[in-house]
Amino acid sequence: MREQLLELKEKAEADLERCVDLEALNEFRVSVLGKKGELTKLLKNMGRLSAEERPVIGQLANEIRDQLETRISRFSETLRDQGIQRQIAGETLDVTLPGTDVRTGGRHLLYQVQEEIEDVFIGMGYSVYEGFEIETDYYNFEVMNLPKDHPARDMQDSFYITPEVLLRTHTSPAQNRAMEAMCPNIPVKIIVPGRVYRRDDDATHSPMFHQVEGLLIDEHVRFSDLKGTLLEFARQMFGPEQRIRLRPSYFPFTEPSAEVDISCVMCHGRGCRTCGGTGWLEILGAGMVHPRVLEMGGYDPGKVTGFAFGLGVDRVTMLKYGLDDLRLLFENDVRFLKQF
Ligand code: DAH
Repeated sequence: MREQLLELKEKAEADLERCVDLEALNEFRVSVLGKKGELTKLLKNMGRLSAEERPVIGQLANEIRDQLETRISRFSETLRDQGIQRQIAGETLDVTLPGTDVRTGGRHLLYQVQEEIEDVFIGMGYSVYEGFEIETDYYNFEVMNLPKDHPARDMQDSFYITPEVLLRTHTSPAQNRAMEAMCPNIPVKIIVPGRVYRRDDDATHSPMFHQVEGLLIDEHVRFSDLKGTLLEFARQMFGPEQRIRLRPSYFPFTEPSAEVDISCVMCHGRGCRTCGGTGWLEILGAGMVHPRVLEMGGYDPGKVTGFAFGLGVDRVTMLKYGLDDLRLLFENDVRFLKQF
């Protein structure tokens, strides 16, 4: 039996090396050392041995089992390494394959337009001033000549945080903040871009939207300066053929006040659906700064005058790009956004 065991060992050691992959090696292991394997089969004959021989043969069988286990596990590592080497050697780098698409983000259309507006005014000597999105009742209304009981407050229903603190309904409060910061220096020549909030929500109104406020305070600022400035803006934004139209209006913080239209960007003034057949599109409110607003900002209305305007960025964007629903700008559907 001793010979049989040694023979099995020798044969197994030779067979082992002939296994070509891990699967074959595993099959081999089962066939020799498994429950129904050759070694187990051999040991079934132990019963025939004498009492002295049995432990000796038993020990030899255990040693052979251990040795074979060790050889098998070592050889399985060799096979694994060879497999990896083969894989690496077989791999080729095809530099002509198309690369993986790296998707880059971009600026939102609204902020592209806002920047374009800023550039036009920066070109005319204006500085960009930032106001606060959370404002006090005092700056949002009071200093804009809209005292607590003023009916014009109704047009700008807001989101209140406390009775005295709210999300600003327009960028106009920055007019007073800038005046306080700069007084008594002249000129004050600023634009204030930013988000504003109102309790509105439909195809043409969003509870959050964007304005650019403008303010010029200096000696001898006249209404004609306002008109010239806005005409220049309209031409740079919408093309050199643009015309503008000023209609008398009312804002508590300007006197006189005007609503400003540009000639329709779709039909160039002939009349179409976009302009409701009038040939004109309203884009902003403007006027000469009310003497009381100047005073509340620290300036002497006897010495300086000023004009101001408030422009709807969302509306300008819709007109410039022919969008028919304001909500497209806020849904943030990438299929829409990536077109710009
Ligand atoms: N604040 C006004 C609004 O949101 C817009 C506006 C009109 C601003 C006239 C002005 C202005 O500075 O002079 O409806």
